[in-house]
Amino acid sequence: MNAKQPAWLADAIFYQIYPQSFYDANGDGIGDFQGIIEKLDYVKDLGCNALWLNPCFASPFGDAGYDISDYYTTAERYGTNDDLKRLFDETHRRGMHILLDLVPGHTSIEHKWFRESMKAEKNEYTHRYIWTDSIWEEPEGMGCIRGFSDRDGSCAVNFFSHQPALNYGFYKPDKPWQQSTDDEGPRATLEELKNIMRFWLKIGCDGFRVDMAGSLVKHDEDGKGTIKLWQNVRAFLDAEFPSAAMVSEWGEPDKSLQGGFHMDFLLHFGPSHYNDLFRCEEPYFSARGKGDISEFVAKYIENYEKAGRRGLICIPSGNHDMDRLSRLLHGTELKLAFAFLLSMPGAPFLYYGDEIGMRYVSGLTSVEGGYGRTGSRTPMQWDDTANAGFSRAPEEKLYIRTDAEPDRPTVKSQIADSNSLYHEVKRLIAIRRSHKALQNMGEIEFVYARKNTYPFAYLRSAEDEHILVVLNPSGEEVSFRYKYTPKEAIYTLGGEISREQGMLVVPPQSAGYYAVNP
Ligand code: GLC
Ligand code: CA
Repeated sequence: MNAKQPAWLADAIFYQIYPQSFYDANGDGIGDFQGIIEKLDYVKDLGCNALWLNPCFASPFGDAGYDISDYYTTAERYGTNDDLKRLFDETHRRGMHILLDLVPGHTSIEHKWFRESMKAEKNEYTHRYIWTDSIWEEPEGMGCIRGFSDRDGSCAVNFFSHQPALNYGFYKPDKPWQQSTDDEGPRATLEELKNIMRFWLKIGCDGFRVDMAGSLVKHDEDGKGTIKLWQNVRAFLDAEFPSAAMVSEWGEPDKSLQGGFHMDFLLHFGPSHYNDLFRCEEPYFSARGKGDISEFVAKYIENYEKAGRRGLICIPSGNHDMDRLSRLLHGTELKLAFAFLLSMPGAPFLYYGDEIGMRYVSGLTSVEGGYGRTGSRTPMQWDDTANAGFSRAPEEKLYIRTDAEPDRPTVKSQIADSNSLYHEVKRLIAIRRSHKALQNMGEIEFVYARKNTYPFAYLRSAEDEHILVVLNPSGEEVSFRYKYTPKEAIYTLGGEISREQGMLVVPPQSAGYYAVNP
């Protein structure tokens, strides 16, 4: 079952905003909805036409908001529900769309459902979470919270130990305390999830990025139970909100698409080989030229085939969970990375600040459960005023301190420099948006992707448009055999390819998009 795509998704280019760190409009040291509204024109001008906002709901912020204590109310620090609605309206007024982050797998221990479920007396929330029957029995393989409820039992957790797992049932229950997906408790959890979605979709969001979407039903090795659960959600969306977009943090497109998601992320963990590109000892996009693209491509093809040869796999530039793209790549390497990211199928996701090469800030004390991730969550660097223009609060009040390096990149300095990463990204986005073959649903065929070898080449196609992408991140001139002669160059960086005796010769550290007639 492949869900019908909302039309706007076909050329959506997302900009991910971590709301804490984007722009602080009221000067209290932390980003807010009004701040995002004030910077919408910046995002639009860059060429992005869609947003994904990390969770912005009531929370004790033990995991930066992925520990929700009330799904129906925004966190005060960002603004009210009405302010969020204003953000939706302002986004739409600019012809853009916006996804919220849906966290279906767990809540905070401070959620009233959890407090109710801790009670010894049976109540509406007794089965909202996964509890064993006795404090001495732990839910196998899941980690648990135990020893501070009146209820005699241990409660399974989903991520950190303050994030109890919501109960959607077990695929094949084999203990008395394990519920089946059809039991009343799990069914009520699912209905509540739909209520939450309905609530925000009615107010005006355009869909959701779904946190840990593939792990809702427990002991569900092949994902069959979880797929079925999302098909149930799909039926609800088809009936009530057919144009809502659903993007999953799942990493197995064959499963997530069956579950009715429109797109799935390529993840930096699991078998994707995404890290081979930008985040390993010898990244493919490093000028050292010692990387390998072949395993990434092999896995990509496998997923692409499973996804019905459609562009449903989103490759992010980064996100709030991984090191910044610029940790291991610099200068031209970053531009080449974007020439790749912005020419692949599936909606691209740009993590705020990656377009100016914001750095991973090392040595920070963990903030809100960020740990090593904190260095990728520092305030956006807008200009050369105090706090890089992020906030007018005193420095010590900032949510996370800003990158302290004197040469930190800023939006202002990058806009002033016509040779900057910012301008390259903007140029690449504009090119993508004006060529259907390069967009989300255009096909891809890998032309040249050999083990430990450069360049890397692929053909993007839609209808009768065909574009050959040739990337050579290495510092050496390389060549490869290609039977067709590329026509005009649509984009080049670092020089054009040339033809010599049936071979295409590719300059060092270069990228090019070429129209071809295969
Ligand atoms: C996802 C989020 C991450 C969070 C975790 C638990 O992986 O991206 O930030 O900590 O889920 O919700
Ligand atoms: Ca603020």
